[in-house]
Amino acid sequence: MAQLFTKDTQAIFWNNNASAIQRMLDYDYTIKRKTPSVAGIVAPTSSNKFEKFFWGPDEVMVPLYKNTAEAKAHQPQADVLLNFASLRTAYDVTMEALEIGGFKSIMITAEGIPERLARRMNQAARDKNVIVIGPATVGGIVPGAFKIANVGGTIENIVNSKLHRAGSCGLVTRSGGLFNELSNIIAINADGIAEGVAIGGDRFVGSVFIDNLLRMQDNPEVKYMILLGEVGGTEEYKVIDAVKSGRITKPIIAWCIGTIAKYYDSGVQFGHAGASANAASETAEAKNKAMADAGIYVPATFNDLPTKIAEVYGKLKADGVIKNIPEPDMNIVPKVRRKKEFICTISDDRGDEATYAGFPISSVALPSTGKGIGDVISLLWFKKQYPKWATDFIETVIKTVADHGPAVSGAHNAKVTARAGKSVVESLVTGLLTIGPRFGGAIDGAAEHFKYADDNKLSPAEFLNHMKKLGIPIPGIGHRIKSLKNPDLRVKGLMDYAKECFPATPLLDYARTVEALTTSKKENLILNVDGTIGILMVDMWRALGYSEQEINEFIASGTLNAFFIAGRTIGFIGHVLDEKRLDMPMYRHPMDDILYDVQMADEI
Ligand code: ACO
Ligand code: LMR
Repeated sequence: MAQLFTKDTQAIFWNNNASAIQRMLDYDYTIKRKTPSVAGIVAPTSSNKFEKFFWGPDEVMVPLYKNTAEAKAHQPQADVLLNFASLRTAYDVTMEALEIGGFKSIMITAEGIPERLARRMNQAARDKNVIVIGPATVGGIVPGAFKIANVGGTIENIVNSKLHRAGSCGLVTRSGGLFNELSNIIAINADGIAEGVAIGGDRFVGSVFIDNLLRMQDNPEVKYMILLGEVGGTEEYKVIDAVKSGRITKPIIAWCIGTIAKYYDSGVQFGHAGASANAASETAEAKNKAMADAGIYVPATFNDLPTKIAEVYGKLKADGVIKNIPEPDMNIVPKVRRKKEFICTISDDRGDEATYAGFPISSVALPSTGKGIGDVISLLWFKKQYPKWATDFIETVIKTVADHGPAVSGAHNAKVTARAGKSVVESLVTGLLTIGPRFGGAIDGAAEHFKYADDNKLSPAEFLNHMKKLGIPIPGIGHRIKSLKNPDLRVKGLMDYAKECFPATPLLDYARTVEALTTSKKENLILNVDGTIGILMVDMWRALGYSEQEINEFIASGTLNAFFIAGRTIGFIGHVLDEKRLDMPMYRHPMDDILYDVQMADEI
């Protein structure tokens, strides 16, 4: 892999570190990326499904996941893991990600991971060919393509340091703070950087100087490299070997920080865990000298580094190795932004023609499109284009439950209300408000309990026992007038359709075994229309490839009862219009139909 990141690279961000993620998205917007560089966030303790971030003047939703496996399953294209877990968790998060696979690089920000674990983790990554940046780092950047978290600081700093577009330097430092400082120095004295990595300050970091410099050697965008090492460790000697062997041919400018250490009597531990010399060869002085001897450009002091950069850059420019870089157009992140109060993910009325889940209304509404109500429901309720067998099933359900005569609870209430002089909408909602666990609203309950029983492999007898313990009648079983002798032909119609057109009906097959038991006890305890719809919807969603979690969420949010509500609305309106047409007077229930059993109230 010659280039660390591209303009299409996407990351999974482990931990909802909102300010760092916002900085990434502000960068994306500035450099005109098409997609946000963060595809998903792992937020184990959050119960939210997404987090909103600004995207220029607008906002975008970035999905939240409970764990890395879930995030990777939903965002397989995201091949960078930005591990912002604490030092207690970072090791486990990295090891799990390596196990899951599919990550090209993992950046670890935590400082102070126990060295024994850091070594094991770095080796595991190396074995799997995964680049680890860190631990104890701010990360890295490929300007104009992808930036990790807080690298480069604010968007103003980034543009000032020319980190908004690719330059020609490959920069490797240990320190994150000095990475930013050097980016600025390079912007002033040269044309910015093509790729930069702060490898991290801990003693044992994943990718070391040589790993990054070898990649940069192979990256044609990089014309020369800058290495900012520090006292401690021997990694710089590997770079020296690569230069001597001819593996690295591009010019390197290098400096090891910590030359001051010689003025102290005893060994000095600098800020980073790795910044302490354990042998003469690990001192900054020794390393600077060895690098200079190998032909690496080493300035006389750190203060001379900018001049050295200008000198090497000037020569490469004069030699025609480095060309002028055209300044790209940038988006400007607005200073004042307002968060939106509402979100809509199903329809959009901003264009010439409103859309249902992206489809102009005319493309689903006109008869010539061949689309029906099932298609409209699949777009507006589920944001998907269902296949014909599924949209036909939805339509069959809507048509089947549209009405069941004037005597049923909801229709009766709607009629009584209409006769009290109320409007269509008032009478309609009276009927709709009658829909509940006993009447028309047992669909979600049926799906939930039958699915539970089937998922847990309960025999019909065990299921009945389980429901008895819960103390509720089995939703979807039983009917006031329909029975084995007087079968509900709506149920038969739905079952026949499913048997013929569904790829499989495992939950229905299970429900029929339960029905066999309940009807053996009492012949009206049939699988009723609510039960049949609920169970077949689960079979339909499973066949459409929904996960169990998604189906459970549909059930929990009342989606299945909505089919009855949508269908029966047609019938209730019919009854209300019928009343209006007939101009029926106010209804009063016959008193002889009421058992009056009123006692004198006790005094207390
Ligand atoms: N599960 C287990 N036992 C039941 C069920 C059930 N779903 N329904 C009735 N029973 C039992 C009762 O416990 C009772 O037993 P018992 O005689 O030993 O005391 C007996 O059957 C009769 O009970 P009722 O409530 O009088 O039954 P009824 O036939 O009057 O009720 C009803 C019909 C309300 C639909 C009922 O079966 C029920 O609550 N079912 C579950 C809810 C449901 O599915 N509703 C949707 C119906 S379809 C529609 O509205 C479009
Ligand atoms: C209906 O569809 O309304 C019926 O199944 C309920 C009933 O009481 O007939």
